[in-house]
Amino acid sequence: MDVSGKVVIITGASEGIGRAAVQCFTEAGAKVVLVARSREKLESLAEELRAQKRDVLVLPTDMRDCGAVKLMVDQACDHFGRIDILINNAGQSAAGPVATIDVAHFRLIMELNVYGALYAIQAVVPKMRLGGGGEILNISSMVSKLRLPGLGTYAATKAALNLLSATARVELAAENIRVITVFPRTTATDFGKHAVGDTALRERQRSGAARSGQVIDSAEYVAKKILEAAQTEPEEMYMEG
Ligand SMILES: NC(=O)c1ccc[n+]([C@@H]2O[C@H](COP(=O)([O-])OP(=O)(O)OC[C@H]3O[C@@H](n4cnc5c(N)ncnc54)[C@H](OP(=O)(O)O)[C@@H]3O)[C@@H](O)[C@H]2O)c1
Repeated sequence: MDVSGKVVIITGASEGIGRAAVQCFTEAGAKVVLVARSREKLESLAEELRAQKRDVLVLPTDMRDCGAVKLMVDQACDHFGRIDILINNAGQSAAGPVATIDVAHFRLIMELNVYGALYAIQAVVPKMRLGGGGEILNISSMVSKLRLPGLGTYAATKAALNLLSATARVELAAENIRVITVFPRTTATDFGKHAVGDTALRERQRSGAARSGQVIDSAEYVAKKILEAAQTEPEEMYMEG
């Protein structure tokens, strides 16, 4: 899809990969709806973008709240008249072994990474149907394909998202709604710091990855791959190099 002039909802837009994606999509001429919980961060990004004559809308939303997600999508559609692309990017990790992970943390992460994405899909599909089609990009993780000790909770949520995404792709194809799963690998953001549970473990894993020379992508690189996925509509998008 040519994203120029299209209306794009980006969740987790206040920081990291989502913030970089906002820059990429607005540069490509898209009208972007900025979604996260922190109104201040979103407003300050929107101010920068409006100074560059970009068309953006700030809708602070907790993606764990089904009613709030539905309201956000309705407000975005009322404002711009349609929704062309949803980028389900908001996400969080929980660190700790499966045998002892705090079940409340498991639920918390599941509610954002899986339920939050599902709420958004269910809210946008009727709008996309009315508009004759659209795209849904679900930001997963390479961790969902690995068996990394301490990351079972996070991996499980992203593995669930992978199958929701792949199945929705089949279900919605005939209605011209393309569903794409994106698989970032370790990316230089504050994601590790935002993890719940044994966060020291998560930080040890990230610094270990850096020491071992493992590739760590920039948020800008991942955002460019997300834009490329929106333009070329593959079933899955992986990072390269
Ligand atoms: N960084 C990595 O190494 C990596 C690797 C693979 C995949 N990923 C995936 O890429 C996506 C983005 O990660 P990132 O590294 O950019 O993370 P990040 O820097 O921690 O940013 C997370 C974003 O999600 C928002 N968010 C968190 N909880 C939310 C909620 N309940 N409702 C709405 N928004 C919420 C945060 O804003 P507020 O706090 O203001 O709500 C923030 O904008 C995630 O899905 C992550 O799983 C990341």
